[in-house]
Amino acid sequence: MPLLTTRFLTGAVAAAILAIGLAVPAALAVPANTPKPASAAQGAADAAKTAELGGDPVRGKRVYTDVGRCTQCHGWGGNGVGSDPRSPGKAADLRATTLDTETLRNVVRCGLPGTDMPYHGSDAYKKPEACFGQVLADFKEGEAPHKGRTFREVDINNVVAFIEDHFKGKGPVTLAECEEFFKPGAKNCVGLK
Ligand code: HEC
Repeated sequence: MPLLTTRFLTGAVAAAILAIGLAVPAALAVPANTPKPASAAQGAADAAKTAELGGDPVRGKRVYTDVGRCTQCHGWGGNGVGSDPRSPGKAADLRATTLDTETLRNVVRCGLPGTDMPYHGSDAYKKPEACFGQVLADFKEGEAPHKGRTFREVDINNVVAFIEDHFKGKGPVTLAECEEFFKPGAKNCVGLK
């Protein structure tokens, strides 16, 4: 594969190809009449991009609980009853969200200016193209969006995948979900069914 040189296998792409392992050969299957090397590289690049944008709910759970500390306000079950005593009832119930994937990503990246929902994107309000064409200097004093913990775009996708997988449309939190999150018989789960 002469064209699969360092020119294509740099940094993130190479890492993504290694990460998706067995998925690559399928992505490399191309019609026989297509010049092989260029298409193979394109296939690998597309596969890497798809893997990156798709989001991984398992990693997303860690972003939700540890990296982003979303639990503080939204609660372990996403129902808006957070562990921060100031938050109960204030943060959105993510189980009832009607936002689509792209909008969820935007909200996590950019926060919701004018509310307590912080922004988490590493370029948010630094580069105007990241969030609504705005940078921090565009906001009046006291109206700037709140800053949360910062993480990369790939983790924004991961945490949104987790929200869609575990919370969206799921109704009230259940005992089974609680015991999966904490442990069987956990104190936090008393009173749930
Ligand atoms: C400091 C508290 C706080 C933290 C931390 C926080 N949020 Fe929020 N979030 C809010 C509040 C408050 C709202 C509702 C804002 C409004 O519309 O008034 C909200 C709204 C949202 C919404 C919009 C839901 C909808 O349907 O409108 C999403 C999605 C969301 N948060 C995801 C997250 C994720 C993911 C994290 C962690 C990376 C997080 N939030 C961290 C307070 C918080």
